Amino acid sequence: MQSNASLWSATSTSPTFPPLMANAEVDVVVIGGGITGLTAAMLLSTTGKRVCLVEARRIGCGVSHRSTVHLTEAVDTRYKQIESDFGKQGAQLVAQSSRAAIEKIAQLVKAFAIPCDFLRRPGYLYTEKDKDVAGIEEEHDAAQRAGLPVDLLPEAPLPFANKGALRFPDQAQMHIVRYLASLATAAQAKGTRIYEESRVITIEDGEPCIVHLEHGPVIRAKDVFVATHAPLNRVFLQTKIAAYRSYVLAFPQVKIPDGLFWDTEDPYHYFSTFDVDGVPYLIVGGEDHKTGTTTDTDEHLEKLLAWTKSRITVPAPSFRWSAQVEESVDGLPFIGRNSLSEHVYVATGFSGNGTTFGTIAAMIVTDLVNGHANPWADLYAATRVKPMSSATTYLEENIDFPMHLVSDRLHPPDAKSPAEIRPGEGKTIRLRGERLAVYRDAQGSLHAVSSVCTHLGCLVKFNNAEKTWDCPCHGSRFGVDGAVLDGPATRPLAKKLLDTRHASGTIDARRGAEAGEVRDGATPSRKDAE
Ligand SMILES: Cc1cc2nc3c(=O)[nH]c(=O)nc-3n(C[C@H](O)[C@H](O)[C@H](O)COP(=O)(O)OP(=O)(O)OC[C@H]3O[C@@H](n4cnc5c(N)ncnc54)[C@H](O)[C@@H]3O)c2cc1C
Ligand code: FES
Repeated sequence: MQSNASLWSATSTSPTFPPLMANAEVDVVVIGGGITGLTAAMLLSTTGKRVCLVEARRIGCGVSHRSTVHLTEAVDTRYKQIESDFGKQGAQLVAQSSRAAIEKIAQLVKAFAIPCDFLRRPGYLYTEKDKDVAGIEEEHDAAQRAGLPVDLLPEAPLPFANKGALRFPDQAQMHIVRYLASLATAAQAKGTRIYEESRVITIEDGEPCIVHLEHGPVIRAKDVFVATHAPLNRVFLQTKIAAYRSYVLAFPQVKIPDGLFWDTEDPYHYFSTFDVDGVPYLIVGGEDHKTGTTTDTDEHLEKLLAWTKSRITVPAPSFRWSAQVEESVDGLPFIGRNSLSEHVYVATGFSGNGTTFGTIAAMIVTDLVNGHANPWADLYAATRVKPMSSATTYLEENIDFPMHLVSDRLHPPDAKSPAEIRPGEGKTIRLRGERLAVYRDAQGSLHAVSSVCTHLGCLVKFNNAEKTWDCPCHGSRFGVDGAVLDGPATRPLAKKLLDTRHASGTIDARRGAEAGEVRDGATPSRKDAE
């Protein structure tokens, strides 16, 4: 298996935009250049708003380019569950809004002649287990009550045995990076000012709102839309979502019947084929786990490979990658005005349906900013009170934060000395009473940063598949040089300098502590981070 670039990013290029170098004043600041932010920027500009989109790194470089891009009404939370928690009308609104998102994407593809190979495909929720057949039948009935034209089938059209399936007609797929690249160009042509390498560190709600960038400039705006996938430093909203890592493999020259497929395992597997530049790829995802709860992340890719090989004949994968989904405690995303804010809007908790939910979020926020009614705004409101049935999940997810904050500090670090860290490995060590996250690169050089997450202080853990430091509390991720890769953190892990004797591994931690080798200010290169 090769690099951890996604199939989408490895097979396309995106336009580049400069950083914002001076203060600015606009109607709306959109923060984040993924599918949510770019769609919102486009729609808001189309309604005549003066829009500025600021992206911390490169547009489309977040979770969007790591998606498997099933554009579907078959949302991760079953319609039976949605109906139970949000009522029949709630389930109908989820179905309607998901359809509207697919059609909005189709409309934008057509309007701007976007070369992203947008294709209509059926979707199949199937099971290999007798015990899950009744659940598929119940989901069929619930999806029909939600207004979806679903069919019950004795089996899904797959090259391996299965026991029954639910067919969702007219779902879709596309090459996401090509879609986003064209959307950015089209939004710019509509008047959106796009700036890359412009990380937001603080947002002040008010009239105007003031958005502070890490490198100095501030932007004044009537409204702000935080489209950063994980919301920025919002403690309350953080208690309603949890970050899970999901893994993907892409195998070249494999064809299975056209369709989007999801099984009923927990965590579930999802797969489809898609042609890129004439090569058919089988794209398989799954093996999710809560972010930061496992270090041997390669193991999940191996499990995914074994799962695929036991069902379909595949060559070695050309691409393997992973990224985070933000799971919502009650199964639906949080979209709209942020609690305690008048002019700051958020969108998060998309689970594995963020290409459509992100598009829905852009449509809702565009209406709210313009003072228009939106039929889905109340259902997805970010300020909503959770239904009682999700209370257990709420507690389970939130016990993790105080638990990690306290108990992780009671555990010994991964290694006693840097000598125990092999090339390509990252481990925590203790020096001078301080816990450091230390990575040894392929050339043998050590890169040390503080292991204390800059969001709310939990301790980061190494992710060996991506070579990143991941936080188990709210899913922030950092490069081996400490740079923020995923929020909610907005500030990097503090860099630390190790004595040269540490690099050679000839000194133990205690002697190092006595000699006082840990100093702030090292500047290791940003290697191996995404
Ligand atoms: C493995 C995997 C498979 C998936 N498959 C599917 C699928 O099949 N179908 C589906 O619908 N969904 C799927 N999803 C979910 C979907 O891809 C995401 O929910 C969606 O792409 C999120 O889009 P976004 O624009 O909200 O976030 P992102 O694409 O992450 O964009 C957010 C942007 O904000 C930027 N940002 C962050 N902090 C700051 C800051 N402080 N200042 C400025 N910018 C900042 C980031 O750099 C990033 O570019 C999948 C997700 C994963 C992980
Ligand atoms: S992401 Fe919240 S403490 Fe690390």
